[in-house]
Amino acid sequence: MNEIDLSVNIGSLKLKNPVMLASGTVGYGNEISEFTDLSKIGAIVTKSISLKPRKGNPPQRITETPSGMLNAIGLANVGVEEFITHKIPFLKKINSTLICNIAASSIEEYIECVEILETQETIKGFEINVSCPNVKEGGLIFGNDINAVGRITEKVRAKTNKPIIIKLSPNNSNISDYAEVVKKEGGDAVSAINTLVGTAFDIYSRKPKIKNITGGLSGPAIKPVALAKVLEISRKVDIPIIGIGGIFDWKDAVEFMIVGASAFQIGTVNFVNPRASLEIIEGLKKYCEETSITKISDLIASRII
Ligand SMILES: Cc1cc2nc3c(=O)[nH]c(=O)nc-3n(C[C@H](O)[C@H](O)[C@H](O)COP(=O)(O)O)c2cc1C
Repeated sequence: MNEIDLSVNIGSLKLKNPVMLASGTVGYGNEISEFTDLSKIGAIVTKSISLKPRKGNPPQRITETPSGMLNAIGLANVGVEEFITHKIPFLKKINSTLICNIAASSIEEYIECVEILETQETIKGFEINVSCPNVKEGGLIFGNDINAVGRITEKVRAKTNKPIIIKLSPNNSNISDYAEVVKKEGGDAVSAINTLVGTAFDIYSRKPKIKNITGGLSGPAIKPVALAKVLEISRKVDIPIIGIGGIFDWKDAVEFMIVGASAFQIGTVNFVNPRASLEIIEGLKKYCEETSITKISDLIASRII
């Protein structure tokens, strides 16, 4: 059989395969590079970067939950300047597509970040995080304010010709309305989902297990929710979707593509099995061979309903 074509397009962004590493789970690529071959992966999404460095929340910042984890990192990151000086040189050497994820506390900060990073050739697109549940300002407020999501998309669009992906929050009941606004304001794609708000308490100390009290739930526990959100967007809005949430193996990935995702990101699994991305690529190839699919893009939104 001929080589399977694993390439996919997300708007104008062409990826060699649909496997992307999710923001916040591989640092700036360097943290996972010892354990996997980054050049084989479709795209790497950076940890959210803000204009100035952020320390994030005080520990305890993560805890394990049934089939998942809660995190309240609070967008700890090195800031735009340090990212350009010390992180981009490493990423430049890797033959993968670099997507820069941006978080901000104001619309102006999003714009300023994009203006500064826009000139970096290594960055092939932006993922705009409007949906982090772990910061007091910005994140969650934007993610649940449809007008703000529209304005951010419009303003960022005006500053860059690079592809813009808006990362949506699952913590609302009408995610497809948000995707519609992103499309209307010129966004190229949406990614769904960011984490769900959750908490966990120690029954003896009666205290929350994470200092921030609430955190973002990720991992297999959220996969059915994420699939339902991707399906909702896919049925209602004609925009490329990047599926995220609880993908641990190639079967999970196929499910997301059938439901409507053009590509997908893997997050929590990177902590459990840093080679998961490569195993998923191999699994996808075998699945295509077994089912006589020559182009993986034929799977996108191929659901029978
Ligand atoms: C420890 C941790 C840190 C994260 N940091 C970010 C972040 O900085 N920006 C962002 O957009 N998403 C962040 N996320 C969310 C992931 O990118 C992803 O949307 C979410 O974890 C769901 O995917 P998963 O179930 O495969 O982990 C983080 C997730 C985890 C577990």
